[in-house]
Amino acid sequence: MANATGVLHVSPVIPVVTIDEPQYAVPLARALADGGVRIIELTLRTDSALESLKRIANEVPDILLGAGTILTPGQADAAVAAGAQFLVSPGVTPSLLDHMLALDVPVLPGVATVGEVMAVLERGLDTMKFFPAGPAGGPEYLAAIGAPIPQVRFCPTGGISLNSAPGYLALPNVSCVGGSWLTPRSAIENQDWQQITQLAQGAASLRVE
Ligand code: 3PG
Repeated sequence: MANATGVLHVSPVIPVVTIDEPQYAVPLARALADGGVRIIELTLRTDSALESLKRIANEVPDILLGAGTILTPGQADAAVAAGAQFLVSPGVTPSLLDHMLALDVPVLPGVATVGEVMAVLERGLDTMKFFPAGPAGGPEYLAAIGAPIPQVRFCPTGGISLNSAPGYLALPNVSCVGGSWLTPRSAIENQDWQQITQLAQGAASLRVE
C-alpha cells in the first residue's frame, strides 16, 4: 500500500508541522481538525517529534497522521512504530525508497527534477511530493512536467502560502499542496489554537480544480 493517492485527497492543504513541546501536539492536531483539516505531516525535526506522533496517534484518531522529513530508514521505522500512517521524505535515495516501500504505509517521496520523477515512477509510485516547490520552479515547472508525464500527481511543498496555493491547485497534476503557514511557531508557543483553527478553515476552503 505504498501509493499515497488517498493521502492527497483528504484536504487541499497538508499542514507541515514542527512541534518542540509534545504537550502541544494534541491541542494543535485538534485545532486543525476543528478547522476542517484532518491530516497532518509532523516533521521529525525535533528531538521530541516521535513523542508528539505517539500522542496524536493515541488521542486524535480522526486525523490522518503522517511523519515528514524522513531522511533515513531508521527514521521511517521509528515513525511507523510511533503511529505514523504515511511517510513523507524531502528527497529520495534508492536505499531509503526501498526501505519505505517495504513498510505497510503510503509513501510520498520528495522529487524536484524530471529524472527523479521518472526514477520514482519506475518503482511503481505515481504520487510524489514536489519539493522545494517555489525555488524549484513553481506552478510553471509542474505544468511543464505534466506534458511528458501526465500520470503523476504531486503535492508541491516549500514556499507556498494561502495566496500562492491556488496557482498550484489549478493544475491537473496537483491534488493538494503542503505548507507550514497553517501552524506558525508563534501561535503554537502562545497556544493560540483559535488562530490555527482559523488558518485551517482558510486552507480547507481552497478549491482543488
Ligand atoms: C517541508 O518540509 O515541506 C517544508 O519545510 C515546508 O515548507 P514551507 O515552510 O515553506 O511551507
